[in-house]
Amino acid sequence: MSTRMRTRRKILSVVGTRPNFMKIAPIVAALERRPDEFEHVLVHTGQHYDTTMSEIFFDELGVGEPDHRLEVGSGTHAQQTARVMERLEPVLLEERPDVVLVPGDVNSTLAASLVAVKLGLRVGHVEAGLRSFDRTMPEEINRVVTDAVSQMLFIHSPEAREHLLAEGRDEGSIHYVGNTMIDTLVAMRERIDALDAPARHGLSAGEYLLVTLHRPALVDGPLLRVAADALRAVARQMPVVFPVHPRTRARLAAEDPSLAEAPGLRMLEPIGYLEFLALIACAAGVLTDSGGIQEETTFLGVPCLTLRDNTERPITESMGTNMLLGLAPERIREVPELLVQAHGRPYRVPPLWDGHAAERIVEVLADGRPDEPQPSPATSSSSAAIPPASARRL
Ligand code: UD1
Repeated sequence: MSTRMRTRRKILSVVGTRPNFMKIAPIVAALERRPDEFEHVLVHTGQHYDTTMSEIFFDELGVGEPDHRLEVGSGTHAQQTARVMERLEPVLLEERPDVVLVPGDVNSTLAASLVAVKLGLRVGHVEAGLRSFDRTMPEEINRVVTDAVSQMLFIHSPEAREHLLAEGRDEGSIHYVGNTMIDTLVAMRERIDALDAPARHGLSAGEYLLVTLHRPALVDGPLLRVAADALRAVARQMPVVFPVHPRTRARLAAEDPSLAEAPGLRMLEPIGYLEFLALIACAAGVLTDSGGIQEETTFLGVPCLTLRDNTERPITESMGTNMLLGLAPERIREVPELLVQAHGRPYRVPPLWDGHAAERIVEVLADGRPDEPQPSPATSSSSAAIPPASARRL
């Protein structure tokens, strides 16, 4: 075996949903720029599987084909999490990575981190330490558990450190690296700006509202009808463009099928990364219940109105352009007025949201210093416990 083969570290990343793809893409690129030190394996759980929710991102972001597809699809939380766990375990046993990287806070993130840590593998959580302190959100459970079992905690906001320390995590395991989702935006900026996306939708830059709504708390119950009626009212005052998540589309089909015909409102299929970011960049404002969009609007200086009672990303409020409306869809009617008030309000881009977060993560991975003692493999499955690849090879 050559020296190169013996010293290369194997990093395996697990992605599953739309927002995961842009968080991992710059890390894949940064690892590929150091081929003598790293090899990378990409696993797609298939939590998101529609072309517009998944494949389009692989094409646009240039991460290449996943090495493994688990094709878990939709289901209850338990079903989805269990399927990822069952199907990922043999992949990790076969690949024997040195580090398993898990981005974000979705069910795939939680499932992958649990499987990896129980095999005695080091887990790196990208976007660690965010907290909404709302345990009715499935993502909050996913964040807390993933952080509890990860040895490398990559954070992009100062308060994340405080949360992790308060939960008893060791200072040495926390790495303030910046925001890899913003890395992707920076890397794609020219292509985004070249698209002239508003014109493609018959819109004028700076004059329309961009809307995304998908959280169960809003779309899975009676609040969806309130939101739909308020959107109708806003669309009479300014153009509204609304790429609709499949969860929301299914609920609207049952609850309010005529929304698509509302004057001034354009309901679209989910759209790709470049086109969506281009629509954000030129919007008068964005109305959303997403997490990542609060960050992207802050970076781009576009007013963001968030239909949630809380945010795990408070820096987007304290420094950025975000404003919480509460889980109060009747307040959507105030949006045109709120956008007038938001116009020209000063904002700052948070520290280290500079396009280089992935490089910092790769520096930490290259350093390889033991941040914390390794967990001992679970006794009941010790036959499955494996040493990391570099430990075996060296
Ligand atoms: C998931 C994440 C959420 C994230 C969101 C981004 C969890 C708990 N939730 O929510 O944090 O903000 O992704 O989009 O992990 N569906 C399709 N095609 C697809 C994917 C989903 O039709 O490609 C439909 C299915 O009916 C499915 C539903 O959407 O049951 C919800 O998908 P799921 O992945 O369970 O949750 P999201 O709402 O997408």
